[in-house]
Amino acid sequence: MLTLENVSTTIAGISVLRGISCQLQRGGIVAVVGRNGAGKTTLLRLIMGFREGHTGRVLLDGQDLASVPARLRAKLGIGYAPEDRVMFPSFTVEENLRFPCEVIGMKRAAVDGRLAETLAIVPELKPMLARSGAALSGGQGKMAALGRAVMAGERLVLLDEPFQGLAPVLAQQYSASLQRMHAVRPELCVVITESNRSLLRDIPTETLVLERGELQRSP
Ligand SMILES: Nc1ncnc2c1ncn2[C@@H]1O[C@H](COP(=O)(O)OP(=O)(O)OP(=O)(O)O)[C@@H](O)[C@H]1O
Ligand SMILES: [Mg+2]
Repeated sequence: MLTLENVSTTIAGISVLRGISCQLQRGGIVAVVGRNGAGKTTLLRLIMGFREGHTGRVLLDGQDLASVPARLRAKLGIGYAPEDRVMFPSFTVEENLRFPCEVIGMKRAAVDGRLAETLAIVPELKPMLARSGAALSGGQGKMAALGRAVMAGERLVLLDEPFQGLAPVLAQQYSASLQRMHAVRPELCVVITESNRSLLRDIPTETLVLERGELQRSP
């Protein structure tokens, strides 16, 4: 489903990702574990098309993403929850959730359907829908960012360090959402980055280790 072929990139002359090759399957949850600065965020941003200038290829079900601009990747069914969450403060939470689907031109009824499905997966968002995107705590913002990624990501969902800074109760709710997501969309491929591997102990995953820009399969 998602294939990386010898992907490398440099930032400010420094080699940040080096020859990354991997193949992620449908219906799987893959953890990419690596220390601070290992290149996790860079890798997800590159898959999303937010990083220009890399070598190698990124393919989604055989389609080379080089020709798909970032704003259209949601159209391919890719959802992304960035490390820093980024909710639009002048939008409500509901408008934030709908936004990626509206940008790609989905019809209102289809977006309504996606929203209902997303709220079934992340029910904690229901009471937050009318609130401003600026009025969320850090943990609530992570749940909302998950919801937004679920809205767009019917094939591939990329979550950048979702458990970082989540209190235990929220972390449990987040894990439960991931399990529901898997049940509702069994074909979905999910990539979760973490610097602290123990945060993922309750989630069945294949683990890849990113070390100084190089990817290794976990021993
Ligand atoms: N805008 C930038 N300018 C210069 N260097 C950068 C920039 N963004 C990232 N880097 C460097 O690229 C490397 C990888 O950064 P990246 O943010 O991908 O790591 P990470 O694994 O996500 O780290 P963290 O766990 O802290 O989020 C780091 O050495 C970082 O210093
Ligand atoms: Mg990061």
